[in-house]
Amino acid sequence: MRILVTGGAGFIGSHLIDRLMTDGHEVICLDNFYTGRKQNVLKWIGNPYFEMIRHDITEPIRLEVDQIYHLACPASPVHYQYNAIKTVKTNVIGTLNMLGLAKRVKARIFLASTSEVYGDPEVHPQTETYWGNVNPIGIRSCYDEGKRMAETLTFDYHRSNGVDVRVVRIFNTYGPRMLPNDGRVVSNFIVQALQGKALTVYGDGSQTRSFCYVSDLVEGFLRLMNGDFIGPVNLGNPDEYTILQLAETIQRMVNPDAKVTYEPLPQDDPQKRQPDISRAKKYLNNWQPTVPLEAGLEKTIAYFRDRLEA
Ligand SMILES: NC(=O)c1ccc[n+]([C@@H]2O[C@H](COP(=O)([O-])OP(=O)(O)OC[C@H]3O[C@@H](n4cnc5c(N)ncnc54)[C@H](O)[C@@H]3O)[C@@H](O)[C@H]2O)c1
Repeated sequence: MRILVTGGAGFIGSHLIDRLMTDGHEVICLDNFYTGRKQNVLKWIGNPYFEMIRHDITEPIRLEVDQIYHLACPASPVHYQYNAIKTVKTNVIGTLNMLGLAKRVKARIFLASTSEVYGDPEVHPQTETYWGNVNPIGIRSCYDEGKRMAETLTFDYHRSNGVDVRVVRIFNTYGPRMLPNDGRVVSNFIVQALQGKALTVYGDGSQTRSFCYVSDLVEGFLRLMNGDFIGPVNLGNPDEYTILQLAETIQRMVNPDAKVTYEPLPQDDPQKRQPDISRAKKYLNNWQPTVPLEAGLEKTIAYFRDRLEA
């Protein structure tokens, strides 16, 4: 198949491309390199079945493809808040452009949504039927309301125009090729520990998160895209850790001498986030994460060690 991956030079997109290329597909990677890097897809450049297009999805584009994985959007608060209006445009105009393309060429389109659509959830763990508790005017709303609108558009194109859609809600994912400076907790702690700095915990560290290794996520993407269930479906690791537990694990694995310091919680930081993955198990052929946290952290630490040395 000929497959378009928007945001393909980013963290998750590049792992997805590795898998699609290895499976023998023809891949078009479309990216404006805001948070993505050519290095992430370097090994495919020059391969006749791989094409790289520098393009901003807020502008329309015409391409002939069979499937679209729509991932383009900065994912970390540092980057999506840097230009909040641009983040809204990417989520709304960008998603409209991709849905228009899918409609025109009759491609199946897969939207990468997020657990952020649940906001600071009052239901725990979060099931896909929960509508969320989102602040519409907060500093995270360009992203979470943007993704909610992207989901709305996707389901309206499905209902009104018969576009073949798939929607996934991704929970915290980590792995090699995350950016060292993006302020996400796993990369923050690893980089701080490798640099011999103190690990910064926001709040008292009792807030919880779940962490899914990127290869598990990509396996879920393929099952959703190539199955009959349209979603939305949660993909994430239901194992819940407090931020302090994560800090202590990374401290032990990288640098037992590293200290832990505490800073105030940022605005609208959710207290709890844990996916209910019953739907994924039911509709995606019993999908569940297989990579234990320490095994995934080992690979991620090795990547950051190489990158910081380089
Ligand atoms: N990483 C996670 O834990 C996580 C969690 C929930 C949802 N997601 C979603 O998954 C997708 C990928 O996330 P990621 O972690 O790989 O982030 P990332 O920032 O590494 O990748 C996003 C990619 O999109 C590109 N991009 C951004 N705006 C664009 C635009 N207007 N036009 C073209 N390209 C553009 C960036 O350059 C980058 O390569 C995002 O949609 C994100 O919202 C990620």
